[in-house]
Amino acid sequence: MSTYVTTPIYYVNAMPHLGHAYTTIVTDTYSRFRRLCGDDVRFQTGTDEHGEKIAEAAAKDGISPREYVDKISARFQATWPTLSVAQDYTIRTTDKDHVKTVQDILQQVYDNGDIYFSEYSGHYCQGCERFLTEKELVDGKCPDHQVAPKQISEQNYFFRMSKYQDWLVEHIKANPEYITPERYRNEVLSFLSEPLEDLCISRPTSRLTWGIPLPFDDKFVTYVWFDALINYLTGIGYPNGPDFEKYWSVAEHVIAKDILKPHAIYWPTMIKAMGLPPYKRLHVHGYWNVDETKMSKSIGNVIRPHDLIDAYGVDTVRYFVLREMSFGLDSSFSTEAIIARQNSDLANDLGNLFSRSLTMIVKYADGKVPAPDQDQISESDRELMLALEKMLVTYEQQMQQFNFHKALQAVWEVIGLLNRYIVTNAPWELAKDETQAKRLNNVLYSLAEALRIITLVLRPIMPDAAEKMAVALGLGEALQKATLPEAGKWGGSEVGTAISSPKQLFPRMEKKKEQPKQAQPEQSKKGKKKKEQQITEDGLVTFDQFGKFELRVAEITAADTIPKADRLLKLTVLAPEKRTIVAGIAEHYSPEELIGKQVIIVANLKPAKLRGVLSQGMVLAAKEKLEDGTEKLVLSTVAGSIAPGSRVA
Ligand code: ME8
Ligand code: MG
Repeated sequence: MSTYVTTPIYYVNAMPHLGHAYTTIVTDTYSRFRRLCGDDVRFQTGTDEHGEKIAEAAAKDGISPREYVDKISARFQATWPTLSVAQDYTIRTTDKDHVKTVQDILQQVYDNGDIYFSEYSGHYCQGCERFLTEKELVDGKCPDHQVAPKQISEQNYFFRMSKYQDWLVEHIKANPEYITPERYRNEVLSFLSEPLEDLCISRPTSRLTWGIPLPFDDKFVTYVWFDALINYLTGIGYPNGPDFEKYWSVAEHVIAKDILKPHAIYWPTMIKAMGLPPYKRLHVHGYWNVDETKMSKSIGNVIRPHDLIDAYGVDTVRYFVLREMSFGLDSSFSTEAIIARQNSDLANDLGNLFSRSLTMIVKYADGKVPAPDQDQISESDRELMLALEKMLVTYEQQMQQFNFHKALQAVWEVIGLLNRYIVTNAPWELAKDETQAKRLNNVLYSLAEALRIITLVLRPIMPDAAEKMAVALGLGEALQKATLPEAGKWGGSEVGTAISSPKQLFPRMEKKKEQPKQAQPEQSKKGKKKKEQQITEDGLVTFDQFGKFELRVAEITAADTIPKADRLLKLTVLAPEKRTIVAGIAEHYSPEELIGKQVIIVANLKPAKLRGVLSQGMVLAAKEKLEDGTEKLVLSTVAGSIAPGSRVA
């Protein structure tokens, strides 16, 4: 069988974060799983490099779009190996062959009469890069970007998407597995219960030049989604490449719910208009949030893959995201949660099982897999074999359905059973009694055999850890070629295989040990810089960062000295609400002269107690160093009278 599985191609207007890492890890895991099942697999990822967002980001960076996309796409490509992601092909929409494929397809669809020219006026959301329908607006705003769309009226080319609506509805209804999980299938069907509008697929070059020129009108470039979706065809050599034949009919796309509509509606109708059979499946997952809030650059809580790898190692990161998220639903990342999984599931359950078992084989069986004795099979041996058989069935089913957390639950049930098996059979007791030698061999054989099967099923999840386990178990080459279900059958361990004492697979982590920072976009790679330096690498603050300081005009209504604090004054101010601020200005101003003065305060400073007085903000002042080494301090103020509480911006 063949498998072709893809990630979205990521926009290069931002650095890779946990969300991108998740989709890519999932797709990698699935492709490794299909390989484990003996499939011929093609796994593709890539970057989406045209369109307004990219042109804007490049302009902000002060470099050409070309330089910009080279820079950021390189960052994406460098990320994948660090996550042990092994894609077969990485596509960029600026690749020459892709540009040609997009133009060929446009020409074909145009020649067939499914692209027409028309005037359009509508609500254009820059963030979505598309026109929104009246119905999509919430309080006149785009619900995803919280901004009112621009009213744009212009001439453009349109794809006759509406023509394929009935076909699409039929296809989705006839193929329950086409879009999964079911909630997303329902969402698409519900959207399709209303008449579908045609899709605007061009942008005038007067507004945007960073795109693929339309082959039939050079005053327009291609709308970024019509360009981007076609990557799934270019990457396998459409229309004539040999891989196209092999892989197109089995194409499976993995995405998050943010891009459901382009993948479930635009894409199938585009494919239909080209006269191709539909892709096979669309797998849709939910969002990673951070401590229950949405991960976003403006909140500054973006989790970077390299910070996670530095703190926990790649195996823990992969295991955690796959075990923690129910595919299709949202999940929350937290440091506590990942440390808990590392300690309990990995270090404790799996790590201990592995090192105990191997240590005993080394100690009691000369480091070789002992021969089992069929006459000595006990009830607990049988229970273990059955449990492994059952686990393998569940594992295959759940991995196939993208229910990675359920597949892992099943594996960890067996790990729990094995830990109990060791306690029940107490090999250290058997070793003391010579009459129990055969029994001891059976127990040790069972442990080696169960660990062989566990190593096999963990390979798609944690390839690096599984490799270490395989080496310690003496499995070597054979494991690389092993496929399910045959290799999962009991009895695959070869008697006499040399087993080595294991190194620690997963260290236990202290709760407070180096935690990944919620990094700023351009943060230093090693993350070793001090807090103050974390702003940006060049020491500049961004608009967003500066916007977090709330500066206000405040009017001083009272000023008092503070006992035993010579430099401090306790000010009462209106801003416009009444608050107390402690200021280190007693050597420069007398309380009396302050009354009625307007000053500038930082209004959203975390309140702090100074000499027993709660200070709710900070007063800004300018400082001058005098020649005698003392300082002159002058309060900053505004150049005219203004209402207390006015925002300073
Ligand atoms: O939409 N949780 O690119 P994009 C989980 N270029 N996954 C997340 C996530 C989160 N918080 N944030 C992002 C685009 N993702 C287009 C795609 S495809 C032909 C063109 C992941 O950079 C998830 O896979 O905005 C989501 O669908 C994708 O990144 C969006 O990436
Ligand atoms: Mg996005």
